[in-house]
Amino acid sequence: MLKGKRILLIVAGGIAAFKSLELIRRLRERGASVRCVLTESGAKFVTPLSLQALSEDRVYSDMFSLTDESEMGHIQLSRDADLLVVAPATADIMARMASGMADDLAATVLLATDKPVLAAPAMNVRMWTHAATVANVQTLKQRGVHFVGPNDGAMACNEFGPGRMSEPSEIADAIEGLLVPAAAERPLAGKRAVVTSGPTREAIDPVRYISNHSSGKQGHAIASALAALGADVTLVSGPVAIADPVGVATVHVDSADQMLAACLAAGRIDLAVCAAAVADWKAARPAGSKIKKKAGAPPPGIELAPNPDILATLSKPGPQRPALVVGFAAETENLVANAIDKRQRKGCDWIVANDVSPAVGTFGSERNTVHLVSASGVEDWPTLTKGEVAMRLAGRIALHFGLPPKAEAAE
Ligand code: PMT
Repeated sequence: MLKGKRILLIVAGGIAAFKSLELIRRLRERGASVRCVLTESGAKFVTPLSLQALSEDRVYSDMFSLTDESEMGHIQLSRDADLLVVAPATADIMARMASGMADDLAATVLLATDKPVLAAPAMNVRMWTHAATVANVQTLKQRGVHFVGPNDGAMACNEFGPGRMSEPSEIADAIEGLLVPAAAERPLAGKRAVVTSGPTREAIDPVRYISNHSSGKQGHAIASALAALGADVTLVSGPVAIADPVGVATVHVDSADQMLAACLAAGRIDLAVCAAAVADWKAARPAGSKIKKKAGAPPPGIELAPNPDILATLSKPGPQRPALVVGFAAETENLVANAIDKRQRKGCDWIVANDVSPAVGTFGSERNTVHLVSASGVEDWPTLTKGEVAMRLAGRIALHFGLPPKAEAAE
């Protein structure tokens, strides 16, 4: 359930720090990646080596490390996570959080973050019930910090009462509750999707290729939007400069042949969205070595051969056909008429038509103006960000499967 989620785990100095080792295991079992910040007093209870071995990532401790600050920086560290978890959250670190101190790396990261924070308090029962701690917890809750525990029980100091850190599985459940939307908000849960995105690259020789200007922004946003609604998404991406979306299994390919093979390898799927700008042609016989320029000789002719049509292949009727196949039509003229024709020729259910003429500048930009073409007609959508186009399309897809997401239901 935590596949693709990134947790920054801050381990402060308390005997419960040993449970943080177990917490890392539980989180990784659920698919999350964990990066640790260890305070000076935390290091009295667990070693950086143990945290590093279990998280399989570097452990950060030093506020003034030249290497860390140049490579990562405390600001970056605080932003590169989906959630910050303080476990154990000692009375000391909570007091420092409440008063906005930045006197070590952990406190600085907590002050600099724009991400949600979950604290798992652990301390002696008298420290937990002390007016200062009660006030600090109150302040932190008012500022939006989430809490899990503490539990009641026997403590390492031989006292009994509230103050025991929650068990690692309870903390992992709390993390899931914060990061994984409720089932009602995941109307595509249980549906398997393939999304193609980006350009393809067709080799002419080992150094030259045929390609196009697709950045992958639209296709990647669709993969994220479908995953946000709960779908199990495989993104098949051509070569792009943008990051893989979180929570999506991404397969990287170069050519149209590889893209088709990766789509088919995804197996049985419920829906496919082909947003990739697949090269229609490839070099019929790519040269095995660099084609040399010869003085006085004319430029070499490149014989082209057609690429497989991925959208048409996925749309072919048969028992393997996904219940819904959505294509895109990138057109520079007669946009809607060409898109209507393309939907019929390729056999897909819907076509998202977008104008890619240079004056509009769709490739690589943040915005897109599209028309949704289906058997029941043409819908003109306003100009939206590519993320908004993606969410709207994912909403329509959820409606198609009969499960309206909140936003669509409200429309
Ligand atoms: O990546 P961005 O910079 O964000 O830009 C987004 C986009 C403009 C690339 C995207 O919105 C888009 O329009 N993608 C489709 C581009 C395209 O190749 O259109 P087409 O009209 O040539 O192809 C029609 C459909 O057939 C598309 O779904 C395409 O993925 C598919 N196709 C085309 C050829 C082929 N050999 N196989 C295919 O599957």
